[in-house]
Amino acid sequence: MKNVFKSQLCLLRQKMSLSQEALAQKLYVSRQSVSKWEHGDAEPDIDKLISLAEILAVDLNFLLSGQQSNEELIIRLQNISKKFKKTVLKDINLSVYGRDRIALLGANGSGKTTIINTIVGLVKPDGGRVRRFFNPSDDLSVMSQENVLIESLKVREHVMLSAQIQRQYSPIFVTEMIKKFNLNEQAQVIISQLSGGQRRKLALLISLLKPSKLLILDEPTVGMDLESIDFFWHYLDHVGGSVITITHDFNQIDKYFTRVILLKNGVIDKDVSVAAIHANNQTIEQWYRINN
Ligand SMILES: Nc1ncnc2c1ncn2[C@@H]1O[C@H](COP(=O)(O)OP(=O)(O)O)[C@@H](O)[C@H]1O
Ligand SMILES: [Mg+2]
Repeated sequence: MKNVFKSQLCLLRQKMSLSQEALAQKLYVSRQSVSKWEHGDAEPDIDKLISLAEILAVDLNFLLSGQQSNEELIIRLQNISKKFKKTVLKDINLSVYGRDRIALLGANGSGKTTIINTIVGLVKPDGGRVRRFFNPSDDLSVMSQENVLIESLKVREHVMLSAQIQRQYSPIFVTEMIKKFNLNEQAQVIISQLSGGQRRKLALLISLLKPSKLLILDEPTVGMDLESIDFFWHYLDHVGGSVITITHDFNQIDKYFTRVILLKNGVIDKDVSVAAIHANNQTIEQWYRINN
């Protein structure tokens, strides 16, 4: 995805009739800093980026890449079937649009991870068609169910490496992200020595290094402590693009998701908007317990 931050900033600031000075005051930075950002001579750190997105009332993706459309089709699964020993997916039809925030729900073994792996391209379906309307190498970020981490690296080394691979590297950015994800104390710790929750946080951090059109999270909060879970949902709320999340953690999800998909017996049994669930005076958890 192209970084169009400097022009977006200029455009959005003017749209809100804010002078560089006025914006600088809101952010507690100098006017010169804002001017440098708009000229592309410097970029704000992640804290300032989040504040900027709040002040300009847009999400981070839109600020960074200018992409924002509800109707944009991101991916379409057509009649997908997949059999391992047993049939897992029978006839999956699913369209995901720009800025959908989807909770993918279903019992253990119902095939949630298999659907994700089909979208990512790790699983080849036996039948049906996957149509991707984005560039998987640039516009897709994934946090898998199993942490895919290089155990022998230190936390900071791993973040640096991942940032370099994703062409997002700068020493300041790496430091900021580690701080942001509360992994400061572990920065020099070898990954094999981290706790389960710390690994999950690191895997999440890595999946959020670059803005993407589609972010896929497979049970992201498993093993995290409550504070990290709070941070997780808050952070995610500032991430643009479409998000598909598999979760069994119902705490807080009502605020975040826009759409819920329930997988059952190899098909999508329900595909409803969260607004419809709420209009029925239910939480997602209550809805899930009744329908699953
Ligand atoms: N690579 C594989 N080889 C064999 N069986 C698999 C493989 N991946 C998944 N399965 C089986 O497919 C079913 C669905 O798995 P999965 O998609 O991981 O479920 P979920 O994520 O909903 O818990 C399970 O019965 C699982 O054992
Ligand atoms: Mg799974």
